[in-house]
Amino acid sequence: MTTIQIIDGRAESDRGRDFLPGMGRTWLLPLYDLFTRFARVRALHERTVELARIEPGQSVLDVGCGTANLSFAVLRSVPGAVVTGHDPDAGALRIAARKAGRRGVRLSLVQGYADRLLPEDGSVDHIVSSLALHHVDDAGREGFGREAHRILRPGGRVTIVDFGAPDHGPGGHGHSHEGHRHRGMNTYTERNLDNAIVSLLTDAGFTDAREIEHIEHRFGPITIVQATR
Ligand SMILES: C[S@@+](CC[C@H](N)C(=O)[O-])C[C@H]1O[C@@H](n2cnc3c(N)ncnc32)[C@H](O)[C@@H]1O
Repeated sequence: MTTIQIIDGRAESDRGRDFLPGMGRTWLLPLYDLFTRFARVRALHERTVELARIEPGQSVLDVGCGTANLSFAVLRSVPGAVVTGHDPDAGALRIAARKAGRRGVRLSLVQGYADRLLPEDGSVDHIVSSLALHHVDDAGREGFGREAHRILRPGGRVTIVDFGAPDHGPGGHGHSHEGHRHRGMNTYTERNLDNAIVSLLTDAGFTDAREIEHIEHRFGPITIVQATR
């Protein structure tokens, strides 16, 4: 079993900063992989990787990687990819490190927030992110867009899968109210309605951000969004 190091990529000012963990509560983390297996998240990861069109040798940053299941899906599909998982949750990263060690795959892991990414300007081929942006507040999402635009090389792509939809819900315009919202959405996932992921990428300077696939999942509407630098 290989030992995988976790790099602390947090700025001094980010130490102790709050974040919303994968299952909403830190103590539920040990159940995360079990829950996502039950929820069939693996199929979403595999479809996202398929749409991402990553090539061997390309560098890939998985933002909000949690226990790194999307990173592992990238590595299963493109074993030659150079993948780094990035997440503020040290506990989730330790689980990711143990899994990578057991599987003997090459995975780098960085502890940090979506609005402060470590790579140099224009140095990354692909950013992927799964079910993470709805955990990030408005300022953090704006920061993520800015950082994604900064670190991607020209022609590099960002592919994001998360709860979300182009509209506000069946029959819903403006503010949502009970009965007029998408099934399964909550205060956090509603951040992604009304094309919000497309908008945050467009605001950051991506000119072709768009939803490339919509999936009606049993836990709510899922959007896959892609943009090219
Ligand atoms: C539902 S989990 C998704 C984990 C993984 N991507 C997957 O698909 O299984 C959401 C993740 O977002 C992370 N997260 C929360 N706030 C964040 C932030 N500000 N920046 C980056 N990641 C964040 C959480 O720690 C958690 O691991």
